Amino acid sequence: MARESYIRGAPPVLECTITHNPFKIMSTSRTIFIILILTVVTVFTSTKTAEGARTFFVFGDSLVDSGNNNYLPTTARADSPPYGIDYPTHRPTGRFSNGFNLPDLISQHIGSEPTLPYLSPQLTGQRLLIGANFASAGIGILNDTGFQFVGILRMFQQFALFQQYQGRLSAEVGAAQAQRVVNGALVLMTLGGNDFVNNYFLTPVSARSRQFTIPQYCRYLISEYRKILMRLYELGGRRVLVTGTGPLGCVPAQLATRSRNGECVAELQRAVQIFNPLLVQMIRDLNSQLGSDVFVAVNAFQMNMNFITNPQRFGFVTSKIACCGQGRFNGIGLCTVASNLCPNRDTYAFWDPYHPSERALGFIVRDIFSGTSDIMTPMNLSTIMAIDSNLY
Ligand SMILES: *[C@@H]1O[C@H](CO)[C@@H](O)[C@H](O)[C@H]1NC(C)=O
Ligand SMILES: *[C@@H]1O[C@H](CO)[C@@H](O)[C@H](O)[C@H]1NC(C)=O
Repeated sequence: MARESYIRGAPPVLECTITHNPFKIMSTSRTIFIILILTVVTVFTSTKTAEGARTFFVFGDSLVDSGNNNYLPTTARADSPPYGIDYPTHRPTGRFSNGFNLPDLISQHIGSEPTLPYLSPQLTGQRLLIGANFASAGIGILNDTGFQFVGILRMFQQFALFQQYQGRLSAEVGAAQAQRVVNGALVLMTLGGNDFVNNYFLTPVSARSRQFTIPQYCRYLISEYRKILMRLYELGGRRVLVTGTGPLGCVPAQLATRSRNGECVAELQRAVQIFNPLLVQMIRDLNSQLGSDVFVAVNAFQMNMNFITNPQRFGFVTSKIACCGQGRFNGIGLCTVASNLCPNRDTYAFWDPYHPSERALGFIVRDIFSGTSDIMTPMNLSTIMAIDSNLY
């Protein structure tokens, strides 16, 4: 998937040797000089590529967890079949996907190896330079989000592990180089969905819904999210993709329990449409305060709505029924070995009651790379990669 770029040389020019021509000597040495430059450029470029593309760090929830929860005492896990059915190994890995997840597809696009879960014992030595994934399924912006999942890594714990990672990286490559690697890394932060579905809207009446109206709750979430992003900046993050919340009212889990005829649940849709614009505004404010476009808002709502409202145009047979699940819209309960399972995952927008299929994620990643500034604010990832390749 990574695009190859290479310098296309001019076809070799055969010159006949005319020894008495004084210009010949000049021209030959110029040719040698140019070849030398080309060689230097080529060596430099290939060293850069061999050193590994950009380091990548991932924080957040199940949309980006690549297996940390496998190592934790929690019920929020994707470590049994049919999860991973389309992964290269065809085995579950802890990713909440039939195959690759969002961080995997971003890694592929930027030419990096996939980031390992931070808790994986394989993440040692030079592999630390690839980056690390700290995400944990079930968490949210707030500490009380996902309390029912028990032993998951909340944001303050993901950051504590990020600090521990930086200590280990320093031991491997030295403090100065470690700092450069962290500052030069791409970071993905995916957070917020669970603060709605696994907190405010978890039960008909919740502690948070007694405490806040929906607009008040959104403002509260944003003020807490701002602290989280500032903390990430303090810890060295300098280029951070921040995904807004997807269309939570349209996921099969919500259709199954709250939708009359399969239409998206209005209350949830309204809530995230209050939250997302506040997030974009907060990111704008943060960037202007920092004097740099550190944070980039990803309009995941719109990216998902594209294939949800027009599944056939994207080659899906449905965006309402999960591939793996049971009950109405296959949206009830968990995806397990006992669930209904669709034969071809590529024709379903949703893999399980909450998570898009690998193929749907591919459309999201395409937008992250080349979306216009209304869905990638202030710029898309191909622009970021081009700008940053001149900086680091
Ligand atoms: C979450 O808990 C940690 C550790 O107790 C605390 O430092 C942090 O402020 C809490 N965050 C929120 C939003 O309450
Ligand atoms: C996004 O990426 C594409 C390249 O894929 C570029 O042509 C386009 O101008 C970019 N858009 C913005 C708004 O940055």
